[in-house]
Amino acid sequence: MASTKIVFGYFVIPLLLFFLLTSHLVTTTSLNVSTLCIEEERVALLKIRKDLKDLSNCLSSWIGKDCCNWIGIECDNQTGHVLMLDLSYLTICTNNKHIYAWSPLGGEINPSLTDLKHLSQLDLSNNNFQGIPVPKFIGSLNMLSYLDLAAANFSGLVPPQLGNLSNLHYLDISGSSLSSMWVKDVSWLSTLSSLQYLYMGYVNFTNTSHVLFRALNMLPSLLELSLFFCNLVALPSSFPFKNITSLSKLRLSGNHFSSPIPSWLFNMREVTLLDLSSSSLRGPFPVLPSGNLYKLQYLDVSNNNLTGDMTEILEVLSSCNKSLTLLDLSLNQLTGKLPYIIGQFTNLHEFILSRNSFSGPIPASIENLSNLHDLVLSTNSLSGPIPTSIGNLSNLASLYFDGNMMNGEIPESIGQLTSLNTLNLLDNNWEGTMTNTHFKTLTNLSNLCVSSRNNSFSLKVTQDWIPPFKNLHYVEIRDCEVGPTFPNWLRNQMTLVLLILENVGISEEIPSWLYNISSQISELDLSHNKISGHLPEKLNLSSSGYSIVNLAFNQLTGSIPLWTNAAVLYLRNNLLSGTVPTNIGENMSYLLFLDLSNNSLSGSIPLSINRIQNLISLDLSNNYFTGEIPVFWMGMQSLRIIDLSNNTLSGGIPTSICSLPLLNILELSNKNLSADLAPIFQNCTSLKILSPGKNRLFGSIPKEINKNLPSLSELLLRGNKIGGSMLETM
Ligand SMILES: *[C@@H]1O[C@H](CO)[C@@H](O)[C@H](O)[C@H]1NC(C)=O
Ligand SMILES: *[C@@H]1O[C@H](CO)[C@@H](O)[C@H](O)[C@H]1NC(C)=O
Ligand SMILES: *[C@@H]1O[C@H](CO)[C@@H](O)[C@H](O)[C@H]1NC(C)=O
Ligand SMILES: *[C@@H]1O[C@H](CO)[C@@H](O)[C@H](O)[C@H]1NC(C)=O
Ligand SMILES: *[C@@H]1O[C@H](CO)[C@@H](O)[C@H](O)[C@H]1NC(C)=O
Ligand SMILES: *[C@@H]1O[C@H](CO)[C@@H](O)[C@H](O)[C@H]1NC(C)=O
Ligand SMILES: *[C@@H]1O[C@H](CO)[C@@H](O)[C@H](O)[C@H]1NC(C)=O
Ligand SMILES: *[C@@H]1O[C@H](CO)[C@@H](O)[C@H](O)[C@H]1NC(C)=O
Ligand SMILES: *[C@@H]1O[C@H](CO)[C@@H](O)[C@H](O)[C@H]1NC(C)=O
Ligand SMILES: *[C@@H]1O[C@H](CO)[C@@H](O)[C@H](O)[C@H]1NC(C)=O
Ligand SMILES: *[C@@H]1O[C@H](CO)[C@@H](O)[C@H](O)[C@H]1NC(C)=O
Ligand SMILES: *[C@@H]1O[C@H](CO)[C@@H](O)[C@H](O)[C@H]1NC(C)=O
Repeated sequence: MASTKIVFGYFVIPLLLFFLLTSHLVTTTSLNVSTLCIEEERVALLKIRKDLKDLSNCLSSWIGKDCCNWIGIECDNQTGHVLMLDLSYLTICTNNKHIYAWSPLGGEINPSLTDLKHLSQLDLSNNNFQGIPVPKFIGSLNMLSYLDLAAANFSGLVPPQLGNLSNLHYLDISGSSLSSMWVKDVSWLSTLSSLQYLYMGYVNFTNTSHVLFRALNMLPSLLELSLFFCNLVALPSSFPFKNITSLSKLRLSGNHFSSPIPSWLFNMREVTLLDLSSSSLRGPFPVLPSGNLYKLQYLDVSNNNLTGDMTEILEVLSSCNKSLTLLDLSLNQLTGKLPYIIGQFTNLHEFILSRNSFSGPIPASIENLSNLHDLVLSTNSLSGPIPTSIGNLSNLASLYFDGNMMNGEIPESIGQLTSLNTLNLLDNNWEGTMTNTHFKTLTNLSNLCVSSRNNSFSLKVTQDWIPPFKNLHYVEIRDCEVGPTFPNWLRNQMTLVLLILENVGISEEIPSWLYNISSQISELDLSHNKISGHLPEKLNLSSSGYSIVNLAFNQLTGSIPLWTNAAVLYLRNNLLSGTVPTNIGENMSYLLFLDLSNNSLSGSIPLSINRIQNLISLDLSNNYFTGEIPVFWMGMQSLRIIDLSNNTLSGGIPTSICSLPLLNILELSNKNLSADLAPIFQNCTSLKILSPGKNRLFGSIPKEINKNLPSLSELLLRGNKIGGSMLETM
């Protein structure tokens, strides 16, 4: 009974009201609206439409007399004047709530826009005006309070006439890449005295940094300021915003300040968001007086050159207020320890410290960060074990501990992190064994990466284990004991894209289920195991991207396969034999890297190799190839590395080989090669390492060798019959 009352009280009555209200609205609007639109303004709107390029017909509703009912238009319900013109792609180019037309608006803005004398809101954002300038006449729409021209591909000088819009409280002229829009003189900004929101990201402010902050100080109502990627070169050293009392969001990322963070940035009591990322800031963090930072929720200083010990700063930040939800200090040179008090960051969603030099253990107080979603501590010098209390972080979606000095056993409590999507434990000194229990409730896991520098770490699950997750995307397990059998629990992962099982002690053949899902895998690395068996001659690798296959350092037998779509094929150090198929060039034309070295391959080098247009590196060394080196190389203009050494090739070295424009390394050491090196050297302009080695080479090396081979750093000619000036200088 009680629940019926609640339903009636909270749901049915408002529903009745809603029907009463809407039916009332429908009758009033249908009575008045047809007479609302002012003819002069309708004509102006039609002129505007005529000059716009509207390939997807986003303005198809702009027909008839009733302009106040057209999409993107709002009229004053008393006077009928157009108050709002919203031509944002996001407003007008949607068929239903979620599907957008394929083409945004372009063309010109007709000056009849100025006939809409009562316009208070104009939005042209997210269109593509193909680099036309922002029209100056927008500056005469003096009733405008809201102007959004963001991401509309305008270019050129931002017109100072905008300074006449004294009623403006919202201005967004952000571009989407630097170089198209710029500002020369910023004094017009200071006249926009009602401005609350100013966004000018990607507008080039070169040479105005020194006056900019003075102009901004004339905007006492400013709440949000975004000047990211604006080519600003200086931050004022003392507090510039004396007139501004309620600035709440400040985005200054992507500039070139080349200075320390000035302390005034942390003395603004109303600031909730501070983004200073990628701004060439350097030096130590300013000393933070405890008690400030009342409202800071979002602090991003990533990708700068900040230095110094952060322990105390972290203590101050966590003791001031619990409001912080994002803290990103990544990509700096910061040091220090994680203080126990970080457990007080109870609202923190994202905690990102990667690529610094933080050290010491992760405090157990981390259990109190119950809202934590992303914990990214990659590439630091953190030590000690993972605290067992990590299992309390029930909202954790990504956990990155990779690249630290952590040790100990992985606690089983990790298996309680039901929301976990990414678990990255690569490159630490883990000990012990991960088992089924470590994955107990990880139903959402899609990325699993683990490796240990310590030789006594293993991942052992029971043979018949059916994992709780079904949508693994990336699996990277290195240097830990998984074998001797192939991890069968991977066979039902329907979305596997990357599979790396390197040096994990597998000694079985590759199971057929793996070949069956090969078309979805874009990177397969099973190197450094003891995998045996033949490879299938044909295999469908993922065609969506260039596939990478690394089966090097195993015990594979049989012949070389022809796997179309492979961009990287590493089969070195196996027991492969037979000849390389003569049609390798036709069948594997996407190859960039081919390494067949250290096998027992024989026969001649197939001429069709010259058809692998984008090949960068070719390694056929340490096999039993015979015959002459092919003369055709010019089909492979990207080749940088050729290694044919330790075969039984005979004949000469073709001069064409050295005309490859990018060739860096050329290894040819073979017992029976003979050639006159002098002409070959002529064209080897980018060669760094040349190792003709134990051949029967003759001829003298020209004196100008240093001129011809400016990059040559290593020349291995020992064992050859070569005279001339070069050897004397070696
Ligand atoms: C007219 O517009 C004003 C402000 O937009 C609104 O408060 C008012 O309810 C509207 N009147 C009618 C009758 O729709
Ligand atoms: C912006 O306009 C320029 C022409 O000035 C054009 O080359 C460019 O492709 C446009 N940008 C986009 C994202 O369409
Ligand atoms: C706007 O301001 C400029 C100077 O900033 C002035 O020359 C111009 O007459 C003003 N009026 C309009 C409508 O642009
Ligand atoms: C920004 O403007 C300055 C001077 O006007 C110019 O030298 C610089 O190349 C511009 N920067 C970009 C990225 O366009
Ligand atoms: C920058 O401004 C100074 C004077 O304020 C001027 O001498 C210099 O030419 C300007 N540089 C650019 C690139 O506009
Ligand atoms: C802002 O401060 C400056 C001095 O810093 C003063 O000259 C100016 O009148 C102030 N403007 C407003 C709008 O308060
Ligand atoms: C850090 O400083 C070095 C040397 O001054 C510079 O090369 C590098 O680009 C800077 N890095 C960042 C992210 O600003
Ligand atoms: C913490 O910040 C909130 C606003 O986010 C504020 O209401 C509260 O007073 C602050 N508490 C302290 C102790 O400063
Ligand atoms: C974590 O929470 C527990 C229980 O709520 C509390 O006793 C402890 O002091 C907290 N630790 C930190 C560092 O806040
Ligand atoms: C963490 O979990 C353990 C048991 O799972 C519980 O005893 C402890 O109170 C939890 N800590 C917090 C801060 O919730
Ligand atoms: C060639 O074989 C010899 C002897 O087996 C070995 O020492 C040398 O490293 C090999 N050269 C290359 C480039 O692999
Ligand atoms: C060196 O390159 C030039 C121009 O590519 C070519 O004409 C010449 O035949 C080449 N010399 C040798 C020895 O390959």
